[in-house]
Amino acid sequence: MPPSNNVDEFRNVLKTSKHIIAVAGAGLSAASGIPTFRGAGGLWRRYDAMSLATPRAFNSRPSLVWQFYHYRRESANKAHLNQAHHSLASFSLPSIRHQIAPDSTFTLITQNVDGLSALALEKALESASDADTNVDQPKILEMHGRIFDVKCTECDHVEFTRASPICPALEGTENLIENNTMDPEIALDELPCCSKCGALARPGVVWFEEMPKYLDVINQIVDRADLCLVVGTSSTVYPAAGYAEEVAEHGGKVAVFNLDRSSGDDEADFLFLGPCEETIATALSV
Ligand code: OAD
Ligand code: ZN
Repeated sequence: MPPSNNVDEFRNVLKTSKHIIAVAGAGLSAASGIPTFRGAGGLWRRYDAMSLATPRAFNSRPSLVWQFYHYRRESANKAHLNQAHHSLASFSLPSIRHQIAPDSTFTLITQNVDGLSALALEKALESASDADTNVDQPKILEMHGRIFDVKCTECDHVEFTRASPICPALEGTENLIENNTMDPEIALDELPCCSKCGALARPGVVWFEEMPKYLDVINQIVDRADLCLVVGTSSTVYPAAGYAEEVAEHGGKVAVFNLDRSSGDDEADFLFLGPCEETIATALSV
């Protein structure tokens, strides 16, 4: 059966679901001005964004990879929350969620490193009740790390900093985004360094070939989930890409929210095509 796009039917499923998860990707923050990885937003200067998100790329060209992450840090620093972040954050609060999905749990598993979902949750919690702050399980898991974390390549010390620029030598390089730009070469000792031991630091995000974070707790949560919302992800990067399938395999429902068709969406129970800042807001409205 092809997926349904009927919101009322979706709301009926939501009402009876007890363990809900959302698996989010770059499309969740697209309306906030943060470029996605694949498709139109996937090219930075003349590089495929994904080719820079590897330990190998960092080892061979730390200056270039830092310029790429500096550019993404600057975009994330300037970004505003969009309605999809707000809707998911509200849905994280039991006092709101239980009005449309009584007695349910909810965890947002995000591949995004921009920190916007955590920021939206912080804002939602400002006006929340005590019951909302008590956690039975994590409200958000940022499985690919956080772009504002900076991690030492020697001693593994991690520091969270929104400093803009992160170091003087990177200042302004975020504006060199034309394809024909000559890449400035920044000396190693001018790149961000560890505040503890002084060694070269790297962006504290999870790269290809590295292990995503929180996998044990994520696996437990996915195992018992009976509804999976797949929001703004191409569903091509594992393990996140496999969570919807796992939920479906043990009898749960899957609802995809994406601007376009995405991998595996023909297997979903629901498919809401369009900007998630609109479709998620409607689907989760109280
Ligand atoms: P992608 O860039 O692969 O996919 C973004 C998805 O968002 C696409 O399917 C778009 O159609 C969709 N999209 C764009 N704008 C949207 C909107 N306004 N509303 C709804 N959907 C929208 O990004 P991810 O799936 O997040 O990993 O990529 C997964 C991982 O690959 C990333 O976390 C990153 C990347 O390389 C690492 O760096 C390890
Ligand atoms: Zn160090």
